[in-house]
Amino acid sequence: MNLSVVILAAGRGKRMNSRKPKVLHEILGRPMLRYTIDAVKPLKPQNLLIVIGNGADAVRNKIDDKDISFVLQKELLGTGDALAAAQKLLKSSEGAVLVLNGDCPLMTTKTLRELLNNHKRSKNALSFLSFIDDSLSGYGRIMRDKGKVTGIVEDKHATKEERGSNELNGGVYVLESEVMNHLKRISRNASSGEYYLTDVVNIVSNAGGRLNAYNCPQEEIRGVNSRDDLYEVSKILNRRNISKLMEKGVTFINPETSVVHSSVSIGRDSIIHPNTYLEGKTSIGEDCVIYPGTRIFDSAIGNGVMVKDSSLIEESKVGSGAVIGPFAHIRPKSEIGRDVKIGNFVEIKSARIGDRTKASHLTYLGDSEVGRDVNIGAGTITCNYDGEKKHKTVIESGVFIGSDSQLVAPVTIGKGAYVAAGSTITRNVPSGALSISREKQKNLMGWAKKRELRVKS
Ligand code: UD1
Ligand code: CA
Repeated sequence: MNLSVVILAAGRGKRMNSRKPKVLHEILGRPMLRYTIDAVKPLKPQNLLIVIGNGADAVRNKIDDKDISFVLQKELLGTGDALAAAQKLLKSSEGAVLVLNGDCPLMTTKTLRELLNNHKRSKNALSFLSFIDDSLSGYGRIMRDKGKVTGIVEDKHATKEERGSNELNGGVYVLESEVMNHLKRISRNASSGEYYLTDVVNIVSNAGGRLNAYNCPQEEIRGVNSRDDLYEVSKILNRRNISKLMEKGVTFINPETSVVHSSVSIGRDSIIHPNTYLEGKTSIGEDCVIYPGTRIFDSAIGNGVMVKDSSLIEESKVGSGAVIGPFAHIRPKSEIGRDVKIGNFVEIKSARIGDRTKASHLTYLGDSEVGRDVNIGAGTITCNYDGEKKHKTVIESGVFIGSDSQLVAPVTIGKGAYVAAGSTITRNVPSGALSISREKQKNLMGWAKKRELRVKS
């Protein structure tokens, strides 16, 4: 089937009360418009056009797919005018045109395929999606006469009797080229000054063309006009992502409070606790436990990893069997080895941590390379920044760093060396050595008693 797709995305989105174009508002990390694009691409259209107007440059910058062309609607004169603007670019192609509003991110490819099949089977000139709802307002109401569709009346212009129709317009249409030629017959609505695409339904009906509206799941039609809609739609998309993962064997303790992007994968028998955010290109292996208050984005987590409460992992890799947190921060470009322990209030930045190494408490490891089986004592700090440049710290395998040590980079601690607690290390420590850098301890005998006497006199 020769198919062209036009997405209408030029509107102001007044009800969002935002500086940003409505179709760029993000839902689970992606602009709303991206969902519609994803739903139509599997249909392999020969043309994919997006009509832009409000915030046109911003939309162009955000959506830079090579197979998408943009059409500028000069004045925002309504959905009928928007499609007319796209018409010039479609001229060369024969065949049906699928038109969708850019603010309906819940629409699925499956429903679009069904619409196209119904359209073809019935040899319609015009087909569109409708849904039944008694409570929603603001949608076009579909008029039928003895079952035959005769027109669409916008809610705000509907008479009381017309409001009696609970069949609402979903804003997804298939038009044959002869119907595209009717667009110029749409007249301007007297009260709003807009050209309504929906008027083409009445025009086709009057001309005796074949047309019909097909019911589809109510959920898929939900449009985003307000921040409240944005929330409702996000909730549904989030739940779809979580349900897919549940089917694959992932437990969510309280799915309503977890936020999961569609690009996240999670292995079997992993358990995701409440208030967790799993974002971007994140993969989590099997048998992991992610405890409350954790956010992970663009990261790869191995199998059997435990991320304890209130931890943040960004653009990093975590090896299988590792235990992270509570209150740990793994900053970008870090690689945590297998069975590593990164504990309470530990921050890791651009660091590679070898297998079985432990940094259990209150530590900062930045721009570092740490070997295997290293023990990093509580309060260890790599001093990686001299006020101008970042420098590297190398801690070779089997090293023991005593608590409260500062390693002033650039510095290397050789294999199997020991650093005594409380040391400030400014020079390399050779392999196997013990390095102590602190004042020798003095004990002044009986000092406390002497002080007491001094205070009393
Ligand atoms: C529209 C339909 C309504 C339907 C509803 C479904 C019309 C007149 N009404 O109403 O029957 O029930 O969608 O969601 O079509 N746009 C442009 N240029 C414009 C105006 C709008 O490109 O000049 C785009 C918007 O960016 C948006 C889409 O068209 O993506 C729909 O516009 P919107 O104003 O949201 O229409 P609704 O009032 O929701
Ligand atoms: Ca809308």
